[in-house]
Amino acid sequence: KKPPARKGSMADVSANLLEQIEKFEDMFTVKADKLKEVTEHFVEELNKGLSKKGGNIPMIPGWVMDFPTGKEKGDYLAIDLGGTNLRVVLVKLGGNRDFDTTQSKYKLPSHMRTGSADALFSFIADSLKTFLDEEFPQGVPHTLPLGFTFSYPASQDRINEGFLQRWTKGFDIDGVEGKDVVPMLQEQLKKRNIPIDVVALINDTTGTLVASMYTDPDTRMGCIFGTGVNGAYFDVCGGVEKLEGRLSDDFDAETPMAINCEYGSFDNELVTLPRTKYDILIDKQSPRPGQQSFEKMTSGYYLGELLRLGLLDLTQQGLIFAGQDLTKLEKPYIMDTSYPARVEEDPFENLEDTFDIFKNELGIETTSAERKLIRRLCELIGTRASRMSVCGIAAVCKKRGYKTAHIAADGSVFNMYPGFNERAASGLRDIFDWEEKKNISEYPIVIVAAEDGSGAGAAIIAALTEKRLAAGKA
Ligand code: GLC
Repeated sequence: KKPPARKGSMADVSANLLEQIEKFEDMFTVKADKLKEVTEHFVEELNKGLSKKGGNIPMIPGWVMDFPTGKEKGDYLAIDLGGTNLRVVLVKLGGNRDFDTTQSKYKLPSHMRTGSADALFSFIADSLKTFLDEEFPQGVPHTLPLGFTFSYPASQDRINEGFLQRWTKGFDIDGVEGKDVVPMLQEQLKKRNIPIDVVALINDTTGTLVASMYTDPDTRMGCIFGTGVNGAYFDVCGGVEKLEGRLSDDFDAETPMAINCEYGSFDNELVTLPRTKYDILIDKQSPRPGQQSFEKMTSGYYLGELLRLGLLDLTQQGLIFAGQDLTKLEKPYIMDTSYPARVEEDPFENLEDTFDIFKNELGIETTSAERKLIRRLCELIGTRASRMSVCGIAAVCKKRGYKTAHIAADGSVFNMYPGFNERAASGLRDIFDWEEKKNISEYPIVIVAAEDGSGAGAAIIAALTEKRLAAGKA
């Protein structure tokens, strides 16, 4: 989706507000030089993450050690525990770069984000049971292999385990960090006599990478621009120093290895990120200050909150919303990413949609001048997020020497935020000094919509794992 053409003059905007708009512009604009600097540092941090000593970016080996051929076949279950939903998918891999999926979504009750582990895994098992009862009314014919897409940083020494390093994206459930989540799920399945074998635990980015490679061999990365921001790519085992001593003799330096970068935590030591006072506030007030610094500036979980903090700041200076009830605006995280997205999509010169959104959902009657300021702030927040978030892509391409690539992308921000891909392409163009093209699909590195990563990817990885184990490899 492209944002509608910007219309409307600024004639009715007071000098005070114009000055404020300029301040926002200074704060949120990230120029080409800065993007290049961030990318350079990013490459160093990716390398550090692969070293034995490690660094800020976890660079987690994903134990997917083959490229999909497109010929993988069979029926697999997949689940995807995202931020808002649990998705259960039955995937039929066709074996000819094709697949079919049947799926259901189960809304994760919001209290579960901060509830107990038992409640969370019971919920997953119950949802699986509901799904299987519907899909197999006569009963499940045999034990089904399941790929578990678990979109948090999880360490693995083999593919069917995942020790949660730390929660991200506002999740905060006690008793899971440091533990393997696979037995937690398997135990709840057993209690319910559900015949499922969890054969692989994968990150959503790894799933996106593999699912898209299955259908498009030019895929070089899988990226999520959603509630969180992250990417995965294939390295070779010899390039991953910290694998030393952890690999069986079945593999050599050239064996491919999917790496879940977890680059949302890029630059937690704050060497290069151009943070504003609002970014600093978001971090301070989050359950995990000092973590996911890059993600907090770019991902969907925070874009609406950045907008809210910017507006709240102006109300405190008496610059906007005079005489309005601010109770709702004062509530942290009341605005999700759909707010800036919808404001940017407002097609009316006088921003009538924006008027309705603020009036109906926040109880605030905006003036036309205020709405112009709001719109400009949304543009700045959205533009910064998309331009900054490609630094991870640019860094991986530089590191691996990819001159051309398809980058498979998924996530709510990529799919819903107006103009995301055009702005992302402008960021890549600035970093690589490409000549401007009419159509962003003409650039050497293009971000394309991914195949269903969390379903098909998990299934394909489950299939690859079964094949590898059947060949007697570790
Ligand atoms: C967060 C998670 C990461 C995931 C990303 C996108 O960054 O830590 O595992 O890939 O969000 O969902």
